[in-house]
Amino acid sequence: MREVAVIGVGLSRWGELWEQSHRQIWTDAALRAIEDASVDHVDAMYVGCMSGGLFMGQEHLGALLADQLGMGPIPGTRVESACASGGLSFRQAYMAVASGMHDIVLATGLEKMTDVDGGAATYALSTAADQEYECYHGITFPGLYAMMARVHMHKYGTTRTQLAQVAVKNHANGAMNPGAQFRHKVTAEQVMESAMVADPMRLLDCSPITDGAAAAVVVPLELAKKLSKQPIRVAASAHATDSIGLHDRDDMAWLASTAHAAESAYKQAGIGPSDLSFCEVHDCFTIAEIMVVEALGLCDRGRGGPMVESGMSALGGKMPVNPSGGLKSKGHPVGATGVAQVHEAVMQLRGACGDRQVKGARWGLTQNMGGTGASTVIHIFEKA
Ligand code: COA
Repeated sequence: MREVAVIGVGLSRWGELWEQSHRQIWTDAALRAIEDASVDHVDAMYVGCMSGGLFMGQEHLGALLADQLGMGPIPGTRVESACASGGLSFRQAYMAVASGMHDIVLATGLEKMTDVDGGAATYALSTAADQEYECYHGITFPGLYAMMARVHMHKYGTTRTQLAQVAVKNHANGAMNPGAQFRHKVTAEQVMESAMVADPMRLLDCSPITDGAAAAVVVPLELAKKLSKQPIRVAASAHATDSIGLHDRDDMAWLASTAHAAESAYKQAGIGPSDLSFCEVHDCFTIAEIMVVEALGLCDRGRGGPMVESGMSALGGKMPVNPSGGLKSKGHPVGATGVAQVHEAVMQLRGACGDRQVKGARWGLTQNMGGTGASTVIHIFEKA
């Protein structure tokens, strides 16, 4: 296996982009990454997209977007693992380079979610849960995470205020991110008084519906050192799965796929959680961030609530979590999210994040999750 590095990253605009087609959004991100990498071609590309069919009526994205980029006949592959599609797209690119199959690979993610109404978007997202055992009975993603939150609150005493503090922290970070969908701060009171979605998840506990794309250029580390002044080494790439249905899990308050992937990632990188400088994690709902930090070993099991309450995960805290603003504030175009986390990790390790820069950042971790944690993809990055 060859060592692998990222030499270019790019993001499109994120938000409600009714005036742009999915091709324009994706091409914008892809060209930015290619320009950032200063390469004149790529040998292969991957597209993470959860549901091109239900959101845009368009499948066959690998071929369509390779052609759109003017790079056909390179191999273009669409990758799907629900909201972890972007993370998995990046992992496919990593494996293609590490194996020696290709030298310059473009990892991308895309979702255009706002061309359908809220009900249709909720339905499309729900196809990542168990149709026969969960969705058939009317449950949606906010409802599934609400149940996980209730179990966590019951088991560990996690409070309503602690959930709100995840949104307060991530909106505060997102307010410093020019690319974020929501660039305003919120207070815990505003979160706790926002419209109820699925008790106890309120509007401001939820990630939004977003259009957007992200891209990264991946090459062998040796080549990266020749092409780039600031290559970022991929120190670990891990992927794990769990049951799709919550009812099949031993513990609804534990993200086993994240714990398994984290264990493998730390082993590959030869570091532990305390060596990390920051993490970008999948806060699709406030309870998700609380459960993810536990599964990553950033705090003890059941202590995710006190961790955010103590300020440990704030920018300037001992372990900044979601300096980008996370899914909550930056937005969550599901297929693009995992690659956008890589974008933030690379920019942080380059020291290019302005007001939201984590000082002295050396190691960064990204955690991207599908469904209620049925799939997790984790990468660890190091300043090369
Ligand atoms: N956070 C903050 N503000 C939000 C928001 C969010 N998540 N979602 C919407 N808003 C704002 C909108 O900008 C709008 O503000 P405005 O009135 O000032 O323009 C207002 O709230 C209403 O927006 P609307 O689009 O009508 O909201 P909605 O009720 O249709 O959808 C949710 C709100 C929470 C139901 C929707 O965002 C959602 O389903 N989120 C979860 C997505 C999801 O499950 N992703 C997969 C995770 S695994």
